[in-house]
Amino acid sequence: MTNIKLGVLVSGSGTNLQAIIDAVEQGVLNAELAVVISNKKDAYALERARKHQIPALFINHKDYAKREDFEQALIKELDSRNVDLVCLAGFMRVLTPYFVNHFPHRILNIHPALLPAAKGLYGEHVHQAILDSGAKFSGCTVHFVTADVDGGPIVLQKIVPVEDDDTPLSLAERILEVEHTAYPEAVKLFSEHKLEIIGNRVKIKK
Ligand code: GRF
Repeated sequence: MTNIKLGVLVSGSGTNLQAIIDAVEQGVLNAELAVVISNKKDAYALERARKHQIPALFINHKDYAKREDFEQALIKELDSRNVDLVCLAGFMRVLTPYFVNHFPHRILNIHPALLPAAKGLYGEHVHQAILDSGAKFSGCTVHFVTADVDGGPIVLQKIVPVEDDDTPLSLAERILEVEHTAYPEAVKLFSEHKLEIIGNRVKIKK
């Protein structure tokens, strides 16, 4: 099986990045982390990458007049390292069609709810929306990224129960735990060419 090259885009703590690093180091995931890029200078995710000798770059979106200019800088770094798959892991910038079309069906994202629930929301707002809805279950979704924010083909979902006394924070923490198994699992399926996209659905080949 070929060793695919991953580029991970982050903005924050990077626990999902860590789960992917661990899966690679444990030999569960046959991939190479080619680069980690953050649009936030002090993102702890960059530190995690450096600790594992993974190239870690800070590219400040504020240095660019237009979103596409920022994205061009990202593309330059990703392409120069021949990245096969881009993983968004807590990356807090909406990507335009310019970026998305450059990597057709080669970008994954993780959303901390069962899409289409809380579509387009982020952070605490996601969990508040789920609690407000009265839903008894939430979870996480790994999906392909298209220009429709949080609307691309779903690769896999993991379910967690919503408890009566949950706060947005307690729900987020319970979901984060399952994110850490879901993301490496989805990347592994991609790396093994097991994902077949049919319209907006993903069929997982045996
Ligand atoms: C996760 O909850 C993920 O679902 C969302 O952003 C958060 C990132 O957390 N997209 P971390 O930086 O991976 O710890």
